[in-house]
Amino acid sequence: MNKGFFARALTNKHEYFLSFAPGRIEFLGNHLDYNGGTVLGMAVNAGISCLGIPANDTLITMTSEGLEDAVLLGQINCIEKQTGKYKWANYPLGVLQELQKRNLAPTKGFHLYYTSNLPTAVGLSSSAALELATAVTLLQLAGKEVSPGTLASICRDAENKFVGMPCGILDQGTSAFGKNNSLVKIDCREETYESVDLPQNTQAWIFDTGIKHDLVDSLYSVRHQECKDALSIIQDKGSDITCLSMIEKEVLKDADLKEKLFKRATHVCDEQARVNQFCKGLESGMPPESLGKLLQESHQSSSQYFENSCEELDYLAGLLNGHRNVHGARLTGGGFGGAVMAWTQDLFNATEAQAISDEFQKRFDRKSRFYRFLPSNGARKETL
Ligand code: GLA
Repeated sequence: MNKGFFARALTNKHEYFLSFAPGRIEFLGNHLDYNGGTVLGMAVNAGISCLGIPANDTLITMTSEGLEDAVLLGQINCIEKQTGKYKWANYPLGVLQELQKRNLAPTKGFHLYYTSNLPTAVGLSSSAALELATAVTLLQLAGKEVSPGTLASICRDAENKFVGMPCGILDQGTSAFGKNNSLVKIDCREETYESVDLPQNTQAWIFDTGIKHDLVDSLYSVRHQECKDALSIIQDKGSDITCLSMIEKEVLKDADLKEKLFKRATHVCDEQARVNQFCKGLESGMPPESLGKLLQESHQSSSQYFENSCEELDYLAGLLNGHRNVHGARLTGGGFGGAVMAWTQDLFNATEAQAISDEFQKRFDRKSRFYRFLPSNGARKETL
């Protein structure tokens, strides 16, 4: 948190509300969330802080530290979708609108100030962190409280309905329920959450391909639609499953889907099995080196069946999965660019990460930026 930026915003003002929401790494369960599956997310030790100062009128302003000249001005009862340099404000504005629908929003104006130590566009879901941080601050401004589950749904609805991105609950759920040294296990059909302990000293590394993926414009929505299409064909054939992640291998074989939809459904079916195996394995104390194989398989499946990988992601995953100190590595998040995550304990270090990045540079003539994260606590109120 940049305290200096917040202190400047607070000159001569005394009343404030502060919050922090972490980014997340999708640990396992690629594209399962909107298919009603169970996914594993890890909240990271970096995120977005949001300072809220009440106003006496109905004016609202939103200022991001990185974009100091881009202060969005608006009125509390006139929420309009933004374009161009204010596009980032659609996430907080969407949250405000969802809170208003539920009578949970402040009724007077306010000023919001944001700082972030979360790298953007590398699959850490800065958008969910922005939504959650905004929601926790706005709720304080309104004098209201909600459960972490409601917080996650409000923010997911903001992204689906206002931003227009048909994402599932993985990002917001993980940012809401994160816990030190644990994964967040989300049953996306029931929207229920559990913490799953990780082996000691777990670390997760992010290696960025440098390919920027703007989810709103990417093939994400196409994949979402393909999964829906596969489900409705399977249902038309008499199956009573209500979401694609419930599909069983035998039913899938008999469903007679065309190749593309068959591949998508195969990924969803197998990925769900891997998540289940991973959770059982963790509980029964299976060694991380063996469990990591499931992450490797997940990457293969995303690449071959879900077809949301690319050459750079495959190359990084290949290097990392071949490294003796990496338990498993896979593309994380939407895909089509973005980043690979690698699960390690303390044996893997920055020198080894640098060597991976150097190999990447030899092949693609640009660096792969990398970051190390620890599993951390979820969205919360803060003080200065
Ligand atoms: C993005 C979305 C998530 C999830 C992943 C893929 O990160 O925001 O909801 O669908 O892609 O698993």
